Amino acid sequence: MEVFECVSTLSSVRMYDDKQASMDVIRKVVEAGRLAPSAHNDQPWEFVIINEKERLKKMSEYCISGRFISEVSFAVVVLTDPNSKWQQIDTTRAVQNMVLTAWSMKLGSCWIGRLDKEGIKQFFNIPSKWDILTVLPFGYFNERIVQHKKMRKSPGEVFHLNEYGTKIIE
Ligand SMILES: Cc1cc2nc3c(=O)[nH]c(=O)nc-3n(C[C@H](O)[C@H](O)[C@H](O)COP(=O)(O)O)c2cc1C
Repeated sequence: MEVFECVSTLSSVRMYDDKQASMDVIRKVVEAGRLAPSAHNDQPWEFVIINEKERLKKMSEYCISGRFISEVSFAVVVLTDPNSKWQQIDTTRAVQNMVLTAWSMKLGSCWIGRLDKEGIKQFFNIPSKWDILTVLPFGYFNERIVQHKKMRKSPGEVFHLNEYGTKIIE
């Protein structure tokens, strides 16, 4: 899928099919995260891949605003180093790389914001030096039930040409 098509069709997915992603597909998604750029090339991230059904079920206990994680093919716990200055920005770029790469292979995802981070750390043996940025679910989905219409501010509200306030782009 061409990059702009990927960006312009991307939607959050919260209902998933049973179909499993192959290890090659999983590997490509996390590889896209590993290859992200970062300030000073710090690469302040690590990724914990979860693809066992029982662990995904357990994960839903910790994903307060994303219980649907129990249905997905795999999930990635995105770790970020709190001692790295630009860690949230850097790691968010890794997230977007993974989400777009997955989308190009017909897998949906959704950022999960409300987490029991301590519970996840304990259950998945994550060392205390890490912070958890998010947990990303990944899975195939039924395209007919996903809302592709983007609810966004209009171009006129957010674009300015040459100086602020020139509302010439609609
Ligand atoms: C930082 C961040 C946190 C989010 N947290 C959640 C969440 O906890 N649960 C959820 O279902 N969606 C979550 N979302 C998804 C947003 O609700 C979604 O991206 C937004 O409504 C736009 O819809 P779209 O992604 O389908 O275009 C989050 C998105 C971001 C960027």
